[in-house]
Amino acid sequence: MRGPTSGALFGYIGSVMALSPLDTFYPPLNETSYIANTSVGTYGGLYQAGTHGPTGGKPYGSYDYCSMPHPREYQLPDQAAHGKAKLTKLIYLQRHQRRTPYNILPGGEDQAYECDGVRPYLYGGPNSDHGMQPVPVYAQTYEDPNDPFKTGVSVNSTCQYPQITIGGVEDGYQHGKDLRNVYQKMLGLIPERPNQRVWFRSSESPLTQASAGAVLRGIWPDYQGALPLHQMVSSVDTVNAGYSCNAISSTLNEIKSTAQWTEHMKVTEELRSRLALMLGAGTSSWQTTFDHFCDNFQARLCNGYRLPCNISNSSDCVTMEMAEEAFRAGDWEWNYYWRANEYATKYIQAVEGLFIGEIVSDLKAALDGTSSIDYSHIFIHDGDIGPMLGALGINALRWPGMASNIAFEVWEKEGSKFARVLYSGHPVQTIHGSLDWLPLSQLINILSPYVPEDIAALCG
Ligand SMILES: *[C@@H]1O[C@H](CO)[C@@H](O)[C@H](O)[C@H]1NC(C)=O
Ligand SMILES: *[C@@H]1O[C@H](CO)[C@@H](O)[C@H](O)[C@H]1NC(C)=O
Ligand SMILES: *[C@@H]1O[C@H](CO)[C@@H](O)[C@H](O)[C@H]1NC(C)=O
Ligand SMILES: *[C@@H]1O[C@H](CO)[C@@H](O)[C@H](O)[C@H]1NC(C)=O
Ligand SMILES: *[C@@H]1O[C@H](CO)[C@@H](O)[C@H](O)[C@H]1NC(C)=O
Repeated sequence: MRGPTSGALFGYIGSVMALSPLDTFYPPLNETSYIANTSVGTYGGLYQAGTHGPTGGKPYGSYDYCSMPHPREYQLPDQAAHGKAKLTKLIYLQRHQRRTPYNILPGGEDQAYECDGVRPYLYGGPNSDHGMQPVPVYAQTYEDPNDPFKTGVSVNSTCQYPQITIGGVEDGYQHGKDLRNVYQKMLGLIPERPNQRVWFRSSESPLTQASAGAVLRGIWPDYQGALPLHQMVSSVDTVNAGYSCNAISSTLNEIKSTAQWTEHMKVTEELRSRLALMLGAGTSSWQTTFDHFCDNFQARLCNGYRLPCNISNSSDCVTMEMAEEAFRAGDWEWNYYWRANEYATKYIQAVEGLFIGEIVSDLKAALDGTSSIDYSHIFIHDGDIGPMLGALGINALRWPGMASNIAFEVWEKEGSKFARVLYSGHPVQTIHGSLDWLPLSQLINILSPYVPEDIAALCG
């Protein structure tokens, strides 16, 4: 297989298996035995980053939960390297950069969380660079020791949950610089200055908005002035679970009633009850999926902290082995939600079908030659990246980590239009083959079955 990963082997698992960076994205996630198999470790994945700084991966290109790789060591496909091919469009989707967790341990956190190193800006101003310009105020979070709600379980902290961290901001800037090197300097697609043929969008979440500011600064280091970041009205947003649809929860219930789901609960019973006692996390929201445990551990490990300990016994701690098993279970769940269960098509349609439809329309416009945008960049969430990869038919889906990204590229060669789809810098490996280079119409055909014909009927 060609691509950015050929060559270097690393990440020895046991003494037999050597994984290339690309391989680390594709573990055998369809088997529950994968979860309990301690010799798998992280399957070559990385789950650690300091408080500061962009992370580089080791080697670059491996699955890195804290900072997923992105186009950087870019390799042209053979079809473009030999012959007159031109990149004419890029639709770039990315999850926000790294952050604090959504979920604080119910038993309390034994470490402080520090966010004074970052300024999440929030201010309004007139639609003009002239006249009154606002003071750039930012959120600085604190707790009042006399707050009566502060007694009992809490965390000593200057953070909101979730919020972007300084490492996330710094990583976003590097992400943008790398995109500039590839898509502006090497491939000539991104313009020197923002113009009418670029377009940006985020979810309504401050996480994605804060990521956009940092990434776009990396792309245009000298640009002065503001840029519009498009957002849909929250109640009907087609990303980040904006609109309400009963079919989403009813399909999820069906997914969780399958034999495989039950089996994965059984495999993880011992780990879950141990964590429940240690961290006071016995409630159903912590016990019915690995979402909360993984989220809590990932946020600590990705921002320069250690794994948590029991708040009243500092030698009763989550070990790296326990965290790794939780991460394997989390990966299994993501693959199950978006790839392996029998209701996956319906689930993807209900959760993400409208957004997939928007991407398909955009690709059709590129095919027809009516597209008015050359470069769009959409800042979203793991819950959007996952179903999109499911629709593409990815061979195995690990949890899409921080800043995980999908680059839909449209190329023209000898009067025909082609697509390539990169997932976190690599051509995505799918049931349709490696999407390294394919007719654009074929990519449209792959995605179209996931666009609901009648979302109102589907949602009930
Ligand atoms: C899991 O996937 C692998 C490789 O794609 C395949 O060989 C195997 O049969 C699958 N196992 C199950 C239980 O579906
Ligand atoms: C555990 O993983 C190792 C390394 O991937 C593999 O060789 C072994 O067959 C696995 N064991 C089970 C029981 O699946
Ligand atoms: C909260 O954390 C900070 C930073 O680690 C520390 O200096 C401070 O003493 C802690 N406060 C309490 C009440 O534990
Ligand atoms: C922590 O350890 C103590 C003493 O070992 C135990 O009583 C408690 O249930 C544990 N869990 C929490 C959340 O405190
Ligand atoms: C604290 O945790 C350690 C390790 O799990 C355990 O051996 C010890 O008995 C615990 N201490 C108390 C007071 O429960």
